Amino acid sequence: MTRIAIYPGSFDPVTLGHEDIIRRSLHLMDKVIVAVAVNNTKEPLFTLEERVDMLQTVLKGEPRIEITALDGLLAEFARTRKATVVIRGLRAVSDFDYESQMALMNRQLYPQLETVFLVPALHLTYLSSSLVREIARLHGDVSTLVHPAVGAALKRRLGP
Ligand code: PNS
Repeated sequence: MTRIAIYPGSFDPVTLGHEDIIRRSLHLMDKVIVAVAVNNTKEPLFTLEERVDMLQTVLKGEPRIEITALDGLLAEFARTRKATVVIRGLRAVSDFDYESQMALMNRQLYPQLETVFLVPALHLTYLSSSLVREIARLHGDVSTLVHPAVGAALKRRLGP
């Protein structure tokens, strides 16, 4: 049996924290589908296509990873792709309320779907896409927070 997981998120932009979680999930699963949510409730800094492209650059060379757009319900996407696991990163207790609510709702929609929470490396625990965007907007150094290609994309979008 092939164990397929989905790692969903906004990835606006992908950070070293996301990369860390994806690589950890490959130890547990045969295949990981990174699903980039359209997310109509947020106004993203990068378009869906740009977010997918950045993930492809950052994760290239790993045949067990697929990167795709997610436009619709995660539970339905998981069902059609025969995925039985959702991977989410858990950084702090403050993440837990929202994450447990989503996990339970996804299970309600698709009872075979289990959510597995992974903890990132300690030095990446404070990291989030929103902090990266804010630091880049204020022209701070993001080189220890994101892949160089993502750093370059942030500079092009927000200035040096
Ligand atoms: O990186 P984020 O913004 O925390 O990711 C949130 C995401 C994309 C995982 C969540 O919004 C999601 O699953 N969106 C897909 C639509 C959906 O299924 N919504 C109901 C979730 S219970």
